[in-house]
Amino acid sequence: GIDPNFDANLEKVGEENGVDVWGLVDPPEKLGIHGTHVAVDYDICLADGACLENCPVDVFTWVDTPGHPESEKKVEPTYEDQCIDCMLCVDICPVDAIDVDAS
Ligand code: SF4
Ligand code: F3S
Repeated sequence: GIDPNFDANLEKVGEENGVDVWGLVDPPEKLGIHGTHVAVDYDICLADGACLENCPVDVFTWVDTPGHPESEKKVEPTYEDQCIDCMLCVDICPVDAIDVDAS
């Protein structure tokens, strides 16, 4: 699953769709982690969609990731500032691709 200490272990390498991106990033195969408060490991996400469908405040939006080995779309935590720390997405993701820093 996602490294919960990614913000200490990885460098912030840029921004996409208004959220931070944490490296290593080497597209299309390596896309890193998107978001900070709500973080999605793009190299683990396989586009299950349960997070996006069930988040009570609609934090996530789909983005296309053609050529990525796990899936050709991912969820962006576009509205991570709206997150209410319910932890539903963390619990429901079948591959533990999401970390929410509720501290
Ligand atoms: Fe949405 Fe809850 Fe996940 Fe926050 S913790 S992104 S509110 S499902
Ligand atoms: Fe991806 Fe997990 Fe959501 S696989 S789409 S982060 S439920």
